[in-house]
Amino acid sequence: MSTMQQPNANLQPLLRARGVKRRFRLGERTLEVLHGVDLELRPGERVALMGSSGAGKSTLIQILGLLDAPDEGEVYYGEVSAWKQPVDARARLRNRSIGFVFQFFHLIPELDAVENVLLPAMISGDPDVKSRRKELRERAVQMLRDFGLGERLDHRPAQLSGGEKQRVAIARALLLDPQLVIADEPTGNLDSTTGAKVLDLLLDEQKKRNLTLLLVTHDERVAARCSRIVHMRDGRVVT
Ligand SMILES: Nc1ncnc2c1ncn2[C@@H]1O[C@H](COP(=O)(O)OP(=O)(O)O)[C@@H](O)[C@H]1O
Ligand SMILES: [Mg+2]
Repeated sequence: MSTMQQPNANLQPLLRARGVKRRFRLGERTLEVLHGVDLELRPGERVALMGSSGAGKSTLIQILGLLDAPDEGEVYYGEVSAWKQPVDARARLRNRSIGFVFQFFHLIPELDAVENVLLPAMISGDPDVKSRRKELRERAVQMLRDFGLGERLDHRPAQLSGGEKQRVAIARALLLDPQLVIADEPTGNLDSTTGAKVLDLLLDEQKKRNLTLLLVTHDERVAARCSRIVHMRDGRVVT
């Protein structure tokens, strides 16, 4: 591909995965679900990750997002091999640099919208982040207002629609100004009209903040709005 089509090709990758393998033990058997994945994400890139169910997309993004360890291979953030870092350094990297949005929202039912946005930051064990509680709370409120949830700040998830829940989850992902947002089928549990609005919000924020966005989707129309499509098949990246 020519550099003309790759506006960020001159920038150093934000993330590089090299030879990532993941196996699961199933009783006596070992099932390898990632067979050696190489992938690079550049600053500001909007990448769609596609592939049929079971291809390994969720397993891969958990490893790229530093939530699950590979059995072999490396994930570099800049020059740092993330899985070779001590656990607290890796937690800090994850907490400060990566935001997650999930298909099923993963909000805490007992907490209201503002508290849900704040929670990951506050339980991170990162003293620098914890000491910013007041400022972060104000930031959470402002973001929820910007996302059209000004009247929903003290609502719990059960009192929110699916689209509203995903807006809360997006605010949570963006609270600490990450460089990378990983979204696993973020509109997969929403009706098409609501999903389209949530996607618009996510893509607007991606552009405004020059985020790197890795977006798992089955939807060709969603993928068409990304700068690049990565296809997975049977535990491998095929493009
Ligand atoms: N914790 C696990 N234990 C055993 N097998 C798993 C586990 N997680 C995922 N798998 C298997 O790995 C394969 C890839 O799953 P997944 O990454 O969820 O695919 P996708 O997100 O592309 O649908 C599937 O065959 C799935 O059953
Ligand atoms: Mg999945």
